[in-house]
Amino acid sequence: MIYLDHNATTPTHPGVLEAMIPYFSESFYNPSSMYQNAHHNREVIEKSREIIASFLNAKPDEIIFTSGGTESDNFAIKGVAYSNRNKGNHIITSTIEHPAVLNTCKYLEKQGFLVDYIPVDEYGIIDLDALEEAIREDTILITIMHANNEVGSIQPLSEIGAITRSKGIYFHTDAVQSVGKIPVNVEELGVDLLALSGHKLYGPKGVGVLYIRSGTKITPLIHGGSQESDIRAGTENVPSIIGLGKACEIAQNGLKENASRLRELSDYFWKGISGNIEDVFVNGHPDKRLPGTLNVCFKYAEGEAVLLNLDVLGIAASSGSACSSGENEPSHVLLALDICPALAQCSVRFSLGNDNTCKEIDKVVEVLPGIVKRLRDMSPIDIDPEKCG
Ligand SMILES: Cc1ncc(COP(=O)(O)O)c(C=O)c1O
Repeated sequence: MIYLDHNATTPTHPGVLEAMIPYFSESFYNPSSMYQNAHHNREVIEKSREIIASFLNAKPDEIIFTSGGTESDNFAIKGVAYSNRNKGNHIITSTIEHPAVLNTCKYLEKQGFLVDYIPVDEYGIIDLDALEEAIREDTILITIMHANNEVGSIQPLSEIGAITRSKGIYFHTDAVQSVGKIPVNVEELGVDLLALSGHKLYGPKGVGVLYIRSGTKITPLIHGGSQESDIRAGTENVPSIIGLGKACEIAQNGLKENASRLRELSDYFWKGISGNIEDVFVNGHPDKRLPGTLNVCFKYAEGEAVLLNLDVLGIAASSGSACSSGENEPSHVLLALDICPALAQCSVRFSLGNDNTCKEIDKVVEVLPGIVKRLRDMSPIDIDPEKCG
C-alpha cells in the first residue's frame, strides 16, 4: 500500500511502540498507587510531561494529558468560556477550523455564547483585519488553528498572539496538524492554550495534550479523582502517555530534516502531477503550507471517484477531514477559500509522511493521469465558468 493520508493519522513509530509495550505488561501499575513499582510509572509520566513541555517551550506543569485533539479543543474552549463568563460571552474563531472546534463553538452558541467566524482569503489564511475588527469589550477567547488539516495553510499565530496579549483575551490554538511537522513554540506564538494529538505525529491514538499557560482561568470538563493537577480526572493512560513523550522526542530530533524532505517530496509530486495532467491546481497557500500537505483540484474529475480508483490500486489518500469524509458534502474548508462547490468536489488531499519515497510518488504519478482522463471522459463534473471563475 502507498499511504498518502498522514493528516488523517500516522503509523505508530516503532520506537514509540517499543517504549509503550512494557506499560501494558510488566509495568501495568496505577501511577497513583503507593508501592515502588507504581512510583516508577509516576516518574515516567512526569518524564514524558517534561519532554513534551521542552518540545513546546512550555513548563511541565502547563502540560495536561487528555484523550486526544478533540478533547483538548473541547476542554480549552468550553473550559475558558465557562470560567470567564463573568467577563463576557463573546468568542472568535475562523471558518476553516476542524469540527472539534467548530462544533464546540456551535454548542456554546446554544448556551448563549456569541461566536464570530472570521473568513480566510483564497489561500486559506485568516483575515487579520476582520479578526481585529471583530474584537469587542466582552471577547473572552480567540481560537484559531495553527495549520489547516485539509489544505495545510499556516496561520499567522504570532500576530494574533500579539493582539490577544495587548487586549487581555485568551488565545487557544488547535495545533493538532502542526506539532511534529513545523516548529511550535508557545512563547513565540503567544498562545495561552494549545491542543495536540498523539496519532498525528507517529504516536498512539487516543492520547493528546492541552497546554494551559500558568494562571489561565479554566473550568475542568471531566470530574473525578485528582489526576492532572485536579483539572482532568481519570487514571492516566500510562502506555499512551509514554508513547506520546517518545513520539515528541523523535519528532523534535528529526523536525528540520523531515520538514525539508517532505517539502521537496511534495514539490516533486506536484511537478509530476502538473507536468502530466492538464487543468489541475493546488488548493491552499503556495508556501505558507504544511510541508507534506498537497490538496489538488483535478478540474472536471470527481474527487471521490479519483480516491476510489486509487484505492483499488492500493493508494490511500482522502478528500478532506477524515471525520467528515463519507458525508458527501463539499468541504467547508474549500468553500471558505471561495472555491466553488463543483471545484471542491474535484479535489483530493494527499498528505505525505516521513516514510514516503520518491519511488512511491513515481508510482502514483504513473497511474493518476489515466484515472483522471477516464473519469473526465466518462462522467465529467460540470464546471460553470460563471460560478467557478
Ligand atoms: C486540526 C485537527 N484538530 C483536531 C483533530 C482531532 O484530533 P483527535 O483525532 O486526536 O481527536 C484533528 C484530527 O483529524 C485535526 O486534524
